[in-house]
Amino acid sequence: MIKLEYISDILFFLNQTLDLFLQFDIMRIMSVILLKFFHYLAIIFSGGVLVGGGLIQSVYSKANQVPDLHISKILKILGYIGLLSLIILWITGILLSNLIYGGFAINSAFTFKIIAAAFLLILSFIINIHIFNSSKNNKPPNKVIMKLVSMSSRALILIVLICAAIAFK
Ligand code: HEM
Repeated sequence: MIKLEYISDILFFLNQTLDLFLQFDIMRIMSVILLKFFHYLAIIFSGGVLVGGGLIQSVYSKANQVPDLHISKILKILGYIGLLSLIILWITGILLSNLIYGGFAINSAFTFKIIAAAFLLILSFIINIHIFNSSKNNKPPNKVIMKLVSMSSRALILIVLICAAIAFK
């Protein structure tokens, strides 16, 4: 009689532990799905900023004109959106690497992807500070700096995407 009670206690304990494990697994899967969703959403936003901002700049520079006040404001907001989406990419990327692979030692393509993404983040900070300073001094952003940064950012985002495709093939 005592033995039976003992066994049912063990079974109860095992059942509880299994439940807890399943709960954790579901939580892990849900987190990965949610993080991937925000990673992809941020990719759309950062790409959109690069295409849209680049187009506005090239149209103005071909017409040999400086953007007016409203367009400058749009470029400034696009700069903020770009920086915010890169920060989201970093936060979700770091969490995904840890949840799926247990760290950053995934493969060399992934290492290249992070390095290119780091340069992209630095460039985004630089361009935002430059646009902020020039709008504070009531001056249009420097054409050469804007062109250089937007060209290298476009190249870098392509490198990041190619590296992601190779790393997670
Ligand atoms: C400009 C920045 C970034 C872009 C454009 C980008 C792009 C992508 C793309 C396209 C994928 C989908 C790949 C696939 O599932 O086949 C992906 C997944 C992923 N990225 Fe990023 N990423 C960026 C930044 C980062 C950073 C900074 C990290 C880590 C620190 C990171 C970590 C990851 C991880 C762990 C996955 C999931 C891989 C998997 O599903 O197994 N990403 N990224």
